[in-house]
Amino acid sequence: MADTIKLKVKRQDEPDSKPYWEEFELPYKEQHNIVSLLMALRENPVNTKGETVAPVCFEANCMEEVCGACTMIINGKVRQGCSTLIDNISQPIVLEPMTKFPVVRDLMVDRQQMFDALRKVKAWVELDGGYDTHVHSPRISPEDWSVNYDVSRCMTCGCCMEACPQFSKKSDFIGPAPLGQTQLFNSLPTGRFNKSERLHAVMGDGGVTDCGNAQNCVRVCPKEIPLTTGIAELGRQVTIQLMKDILGQ
Ligand code: SF4
Ligand code: SF4
Ligand code: FES
Repeated sequence: MADTIKLKVKRQDEPDSKPYWEEFELPYKEQHNIVSLLMALRENPVNTKGETVAPVCFEANCMEEVCGACTMIINGKVRQGCSTLIDNISQPIVLEPMTKFPVVRDLMVDRQQMFDALRKVKAWVELDGGYDTHVHSPRISPEDWSVNYDVSRCMTCGCCMEACPQFSKKSDFIGPAPLGQTQLFNSLPTGRFNKSERLHAVMGDGGVTDCGNAQNCVRVCPKEIPLTTGIAELGRQVTIQLMKDILGQ
């Protein structure tokens, strides 16, 4: 086992400045993950040229793959820094920010576009409890509940957006994560009451029909959410809604 950890980081000082690479070498410590490694680097930010530099900027909160904040590209693969153990990856460890979101600084990106999309599709229920808003709150089967639970584990990390060939800074495509949440809230007993509004939000340009079904999103989702199954169901619902609109129902 090597007694140091070699690290190469793609850095960017400001949102519009040119990115550059910087290399570091840190003492080996057992059980390090990428976030704890970056924290150790923050205590003594000296590069391999012996220069003291600004600490590498990154985001992290939960440290248990729940918040999604530490998502970055690690050795070419988009994933969470907190759940990536140093002992399981090759060196030099290469860290880059996600490419589909604007860089704020170094490894920190602005995922606001995804949160705006969740707002657009009304990814919430109006009130937590059907009885206040609706006379009869519909029941849900254990099978549906189980699928919904899987989708509800989305942490808006952006891995699926990074992998999706249809989603980019220039395209209008809303992206896999917000589409998955649209389908989730449409299938919840109380969420169903706003189904038509959500379907109209994902109709037309940038909506569900822009998905090319490349399946990249499913492959990279750390929560193994069945995104393409949800997107296919959403496409079916949009078609039905379209027919209803044409028939004036
Ligand atoms: S299946 Fe659709 S949403 Fe998923 S990666 Fe492909 S184009 Fe993007
Ligand atoms: S669907 Fe999966 S990959 Fe996409 S944002 Fe949610 S947790 Fe991340
Ligand atoms: S710190 Fe929350 S997912 Fe990594």
